[in-house]
Amino acid sequence: MSGAGAAGQEAVLTIERIGARGDGIARWDGRSVYVPFTAPGDRVRVRLGNAFGEGRAARLVQLLAPGARIAPVCRHFGACGGCALQHLAATAYAEAKESQIAAALSRQGLAAAVIAPLLRLPPGTRRRARFALEHPRTAAATPLVGFHARASHRIVDMEECAVLHPALVALARTLRPLIPRLWHRGGTGAATATLSDTGVDLLLDLAAPPELGALEHLAGFAEAQDLARLAWRAPGMEEPVPAAIRRPPRVVFSGVAVDLPADAFLQASAAAEAALTAEVLAGIGAARRVADLYAGLGTFSFALAIRAAVHAAEGSRETAAALAAAASRAGLQRLTVERRDLEARPLSPEELARFDAVVLDPPRAGAKAQSAALARSVVPRLVAVSCNPATFARDARLLVEGGYRLVRVQPIDQFVWSPHVELVAQFAR
Ligand SMILES: C[S@@+](CC[C@H](N)C(=O)[O-])C[C@H]1O[C@@H](n2cnc3c(N)ncnc32)[C@H](O)[C@@H]1O
Repeated sequence: MSGAGAAGQEAVLTIERIGARGDGIARWDGRSVYVPFTAPGDRVRVRLGNAFGEGRAARLVQLLAPGARIAPVCRHFGACGGCALQHLAATAYAEAKESQIAAALSRQGLAAAVIAPLLRLPPGTRRRARFALEHPRTAAATPLVGFHARASHRIVDMEECAVLHPALVALARTLRPLIPRLWHRGGTGAATATLSDTGVDLLLDLAAPPELGALEHLAGFAEAQDLARLAWRAPGMEEPVPAAIRRPPRVVFSGVAVDLPADAFLQASAAAEAALTAEVLAGIGAARRVADLYAGLGTFSFALAIRAAVHAAEGSRETAAALAAAASRAGLQRLTVERRDLEARPLSPEELARFDAVVLDPPRAGAKAQSAALARSVVPRLVAVSCNPATFARDARLLVEGGYRLVRVQPIDQFVWSPHVELVAQFAR
């Protein structure tokens, strides 16, 4: 049976590969069927669901014969929406991530031969988490802290997490008793925790501004947990309000301490930051004048400035200011900083002519306007960092049409066990 009548039917299928969302993909009735938590080679009985894009969703009913599987490490795997790929054997895991990049490049007519094997990074190192919080309606239920179940608002109460740094897992436990003090029954919110180099920076998204008693309690909580900073925000407020600043939260890049604005971008772990920086440095070669575009707090700028004159451009006012202040405190005259919206006002080919390498690390939406300007430039070397293979491939095509060669793509497993992949690409002309 095909078409709309298929939903609810059972089928026996063999999983062929893993798709961009981390689902196993099998063929049924000439179309793709997406089955979460399956592995290539699995023989499975599934219940077919609704049409999904060109294919159809399905739910695993029974694993008849295992394919490229290992035992997941976390008790929440399968319920928690944080991880999708813990069950994949090493080769299948690497293939799942590498093939996403290959598929995105091939959709843009670009060769996949330049993709290096996935660089795996250790779990238990992630330094930022946004926990969902809930004060349940019923008196018998205890407060919930964790991540949402996949495609759901339901919170999976977290008892362990193999992805996060242990300091953040320990912090999550301490948030439970705080919830009834800050939220009415039935209320929900969020806590964003960042493990900075001076301690945890915690930002609470509350339903309403806290009463005086709750504020005092927050200050006591910050003291008891030895937080670097605790801030809160309520709906409609743009700027977070600090409840306690015990030490300025700071991150250290290549020996330079940078103040961490609440909500500023940070690479997911120190290990990922080191791997990305090494690839970026290798990519610029012997360049002496480098533009670091979408520079953030200077993850790459400070490393680049050890060997080159660097011009950093960043769109966020607070982030650019923190980067500029750190460069000035460190007396780094060869690092200049500009606040600039690179989508609205990309560096022009004329401005780019003074650099012999450009590094760009845009957000998920990519760097379309800046790539179009680079395509018309004479810069000999580019290093592109991306967390989204689709927008990367779109921008890469612009560069290749402008005469660049895509020399190498290094996939980096920054988002361990999620379907996401980070990459660093080198272009030359
Ligand atoms: C993926 S982060 C990379 C930051 C930095 N390279 C790092 O490794 O930490 C992207 C950065 O681009 C900035 N950004 C986003 N949109 C921008 C735009 N239109 N123009 C300039 N910067 C932008 C963000 O504020 C963020 O700091």
